[in-house]
Amino acid sequence: MNKKMITLVVGVTALLSVPMMAQAADVEAGRDAFETCRGCHTSPGTSNVYPTYYVPKVGGQVAAYTVAALKAYQKSERPHRTMMANVHGFSDQKLENIAAYLETVTGSARANANGGNAANGKKLAESCMACHNDNTDAGATNPRLAGQHQNYLEKAMQDYQSGARKNALMQSMVQGLSEDEINDIAAYFTSLKGLTAVK
Ligand code: HEC
Ligand code: HEC
Repeated sequence: MNKKMITLVVGVTALLSVPMMAQAADVEAGRDAFETCRGCHTSPGTSNVYPTYYVPKVGGQVAAYTVAALKAYQKSERPHRTMMANVHGFSDQKLENIAAYLETVTGSARANANGGNAANGKKLAESCMACHNDNTDAGATNPRLAGQHQNYLEKAMQDYQSGARKNALMQSMVQGLSEDEINDIAAYFTSLKGLTAVK
């Protein structure tokens, strides 16, 4: 290898390693950055007011989904004022750190249910399982639903139906569901073990 080629190889390696370093998520930094979020996301009994539904569990959530969700608040695709304010101005790196931290959180916290027929919900949810099967493989942006609070899941599906929450895929998936069907599907996912509140 002559000198010129070596310079070229070193140059290319340096170029490639810069974006890779910027992408490595820092779990400890994510834990610190989550301090301001604990007030709402650490207790399974904390409710949103107007409308009333439990603050979603984010512990154990798929990291790629958490990043996508937080960016959706930044872009107002999910118009929730408090959450929009909470992540306003956060860099992509900070969002990735937080998401990586949340994915490491394990444990159990009660999932609040509010009626519905979980057995019927299981049947209705068959078409959903290809994506909502709890697979946390890197890169997948499909959220875990198992163990999530029931009225939060219902709120999410209603928001897709009304268009308040924008996601073309999910809007088409839940479009034809009745109120009872949404209640049953949510009851099913709530009955499973999975997500947890953050300690
Ligand atoms: C005042 C209470 C409150 C605080 C503080 C708060 N959140 Fe939230 N968070 C909520 C509520 C309520 C929702 C559900 C909003 C909705 O319906 O879209 C939510 C939603 C989320 C979601 C989406 C969950 C999902 O399944 O889609 C994530 C991720 C999240 N919050 C992370 C954070 C982070 C990170 C912070 C701190 C920077 C934070 N939250 C601070 C109340 C709060
Ligand atoms: C092809 C994959 C796919 C299928 C099939 C699918 N989903 Fe989803 N689902 C997603 C993705 C991706 C998101 C995140 C969308 C977003 O960012 O708003 C999501 C989000 C959701 C959410 C919101 C979760 C949260 O934490 O806020 C609910 C609830 C949900 N899906 C229920 C269902 C139900 C019920 C079905 C079946 C009727 C279904 N999904 C089918 C991929 C899928």
